[in-house]
Amino acid sequence: MAVRTIVSMPGDGIGQTVLPEAIRVLEASGFEAEYIHADIGWELWRSEGDALPRRTIDLLAEHGTGLFGAITSKPKDRAEAELHPDLQDRGHVYYSPIVGLRQLFNLDISVRPCRSFKGNPLNFVRRGSDGEMEEPMVDVVVFRQNTEGLYVGVEWTDPPAEVRNAFKSHPKFAPFGDVPGPDLAISSRIFTRPACRRVVEEAFAYAEHHGYRSVTICEKPNVIRETSGMLEQEAASAAEKYPDISLWSTNIDAQTMWLTKNPEDYGVIVCGNMFGDIISDAFAGLVGGLGFAASSNVGKEVALFEPTHGSAPKYADLEPGIVNPIAMVLASAMMLDHLEEYERAESIRKAVGEVVAVGEVRTYDMMKIPGGSGAIEKGAATTRQMTDAIIEALQ
Ligand code: NAI
Ligand code: MG
Repeated sequence: MAVRTIVSMPGDGIGQTVLPEAIRVLEASGFEAEYIHADIGWELWRSEGDALPRRTIDLLAEHGTGLFGAITSKPKDRAEAELHPDLQDRGHVYYSPIVGLRQLFNLDISVRPCRSFKGNPLNFVRRGSDGEMEEPMVDVVVFRQNTEGLYVGVEWTDPPAEVRNAFKSHPKFAPFGDVPGPDLAISSRIFTRPACRRVVEEAFAYAEHHGYRSVTICEKPNVIRETSGMLEQEAASAAEKYPDISLWSTNIDAQTMWLTKNPEDYGVIVCGNMFGDIISDAFAGLVGGLGFAASSNVGKEVALFEPTHGSAPKYADLEPGIVNPIAMVLASAMMLDHLEEYERAESIRKAVGEVVAVGEVRTYDMMKIPGGSGAIEKGAATTRQMTDAIIEALQ
């Protein structure tokens, strides 16, 4: 088979620590690929005035598959202040490059698996009715619509007259009709039927392929009727092709309340952009948090795989690195699934599971101790030692 080309975007901070480790694991799994480095992130913003240079976009368009570490983002005034002096006052505006990539390549589906590994000290535990401790094994995969909803950025403070008038045509706007412009802020939640259809169809196909018994639409259809309602309608018609998979519906608020009551009962969960962001973090918290949470951004032509965590600047310069590479490693296993390298993907997840279960090698987060240089003295594994252990378990 032709050797694949993977665009490697470590980005900032600990993105640069964990991405090379994930590549070591991919190589140890026997996956043959060429990795091409692409620039992205804060340092690019500072030196070039663009966190997402054209050459990076071109590489992704050409090769289609990318691994992404993490980037640093800062508020607008800090962004301007940190620009190279030659670039200041030239109209450069900072945009999050990962949000930019999602829009640019229409990476409209984000998949976020939240699975417990046996023996992970960070697993959620609860007290059962008999007083004994229970450790439910969570195996939830969140499908988040990644490009629409509240994240589209169609919003105003002091909306222009034509927008105000359009809103006035809706009877429920009456109580707001006289609110002075500067006191009125509107953010719009936009869903389209094709995007709703695609995310539910992908969710059902995934559920069938991976043996999940249920797909749950987690929204708020009793209140946000039009948008949540559209997603539910599309789910109902997608479900017709899958008589063996149950279609459930939960409200986002109730789902978070039930989060710790019966998380083991859920399989695939589908949400719009905002609720998907929330519920995927909520479930990730039950299975190890940021050191374990991976996600994909998948469009029709381009797919990117990333850990959920950011650049963790306070640990970026530690030598040796101490952060947990597992989230990035699990993201690269998701990439293998996407490339239909299912066996290799599974072997990597199994190796991670073994290392966690044996429990001899644990990064500081798994020991529940503060990070920093003192962590190693207390017995925490370095990033590299954790990767080495995963590679050893692979063999
Ligand atoms: P963060 O995820 O970078 O770090 C928060 C804390 O979580 C860290 O201080 C550390 O204690 C822990 N942590 C994160 N990753 C870990 C790992 N692999 N192993 C062990 N512990 C880990 O979030 P924070 O501090 O809010 O943001 C830092 C920067 O990252 C900001 O500039 C933010 O904008 C950016 N960010 C970027 C994201 C991305 O690239 N997709 C996502 C989230 C934040
Ligand atoms: Mg988030």
